[in-house]
Amino acid sequence: MEFSVKSGNPEKQRSACVVVGVFEPRRLSQSAEQIDKASDGYLSNLIRRGDIEGKLGQSLLLYNVPGTLCDRVLLVGCGRERELSPDKYATIIATATRALNEGGTMEAVFYLTDINIKGQDSPWKVSQLILTVEDTLYQFDQLKSEKDEFRRPLRKIIISIPSRRELAECEEALKSAQAIALGVSTAKDLGNLPGNICTPTYLAKTALQLAKEHEALSTSILEEADMEELGMGSLLSVSRGSREPAKLIVMEYKGAENNDNPIVLVGKGLTFDAGGISIKPSAGMDEMKYDMCGGASVIGTLQACAELQLPLSVVGVVPSSENLPDGDANKPGDVVTSMSGQTIEILNTDAEGRLILCDALTYCERFEPSAVIDMATLTGACIVALGHHAQALLSNHNPLTHELLNAGKQIHDRAWELPLWDDYQSQLDSNFADMANIGGKGAGTITAACFLSRYTKKFKWAHLDIAGTAWKSGKEKGATGRPVPLLMQFLMNRVQ
Ligand code: BES
Ligand code: MN
Ligand code: ZN
Repeated sequence: MEFSVKSGNPEKQRSACVVVGVFEPRRLSQSAEQIDKASDGYLSNLIRRGDIEGKLGQSLLLYNVPGTLCDRVLLVGCGRERELSPDKYATIIATATRALNEGGTMEAVFYLTDINIKGQDSPWKVSQLILTVEDTLYQFDQLKSEKDEFRRPLRKIIISIPSRRELAECEEALKSAQAIALGVSTAKDLGNLPGNICTPTYLAKTALQLAKEHEALSTSILEEADMEELGMGSLLSVSRGSREPAKLIVMEYKGAENNDNPIVLVGKGLTFDAGGISIKPSAGMDEMKYDMCGGASVIGTLQACAELQLPLSVVGVVPSSENLPDGDANKPGDVVTSMSGQTIEILNTDAEGRLILCDALTYCERFEPSAVIDMATLTGACIVALGHHAQALLSNHNPLTHELLNAGKQIHDRAWELPLWDDYQSQLDSNFADMANIGGKGAGTITAACFLSRYTKKFKWAHLDIAGTAWKSGKEKGATGRPVPLLMQFLMNRVQ
């Protein structure tokens, strides 16, 4: 999509369409009001007759509105003005986008930054608008022989802002939102690709390709032999049960001149999780292709950093493997030695995410990171705790916790903190090794984080469990690209 921002009067736009809001019950937004004046009450007349109530999700396309220079006016229902929220703003944008795309309007001027969302300014609205439009129009059809194509798809959106004074900051917001949307779309594509295509090797190739496209980005791949040498016995124990070789993908983005300590992002890249010998039930197992979404978000975020030329140093580390049952796979009771030297009793082979992450986290020490943030579709328990709206956040550093929670709130990709108290650590006690890989009944998301915390003592670290947020199930099955927006907001905040 081509986006731009400008400011000007709605009735004076020579465009295929001007989009304005209508509140419930039958009240015009500021921009709709302006068109109403120019058209001698055309809109208020129509509304009085009851053609549109202004409910959220409604829209009405009008042709040849008197007093305007555009071909069409799209009225979009915004719901009650007092009840507006970031979610409702997204619904308004998505409704307008679908109506235009499906109705054959290829270009439109959106007058939707005049809507008041409590505490949000114009740059925020520009940014949310772009992210929502791209999210709405995203399609994963690369594996379909016949694609749903619209004859006249929406191609160009001009975002009108109320005042010329805000132009510069809104243009900044436009630039960053476009980069974030690109990262989100990359993460979605990787997530949606099936396990037989998106293998560890495929993820590695994608990361190498991105490095070719961006000068400030370099990628290196550690092979199983390299990991052997480093002593990554935990990670390698998972991939032993699979015919696809494991990869440790390392992407380095250097956007800053000085050699400051980088922020390291680590993402679980399990390209298919059957559970191993502790095999999962078959219902819905296809969704375990999404078990690499943490890794996909790391790759998408590094791409977005490079695209934006963010003046920071960021490293992405993606341990990638499959988890399958096999004669050579981990067995319950096996004890493995991690790169840190700590031994692990594997009581459940389906708790494999932490087994690959722990070695990747130890590997991060070499970067002398200013902070390490890992993200993983780590526990089903996270969905029980938080459902599909918030990702869980656990951290060993309070200020980092707050930076991440705030970034998530800002860009509306929210996280919620769970306690990483020492009280939970004893659930990992093992009679045969330094720790078990499962924590038994209760607090599964916390005990998983407790496990990781034993490998992150040397740096400031936060863990995001994205099991409930990385993809949607059911009719709308598909990757979400979360938490790329949260990470990008966090990184952008670090620049200012
Ligand atoms: N990838 C899964 C977690 C998962 C399950 C995410 C369902 C999203 C939806 C992870 O590897 C796993 O299997 N975790 C186990 C851990 C348990 C054995 C302690 C789980 O959550 O059941
Ligand atoms: Mn598993
Ligand atoms: Zn898994």
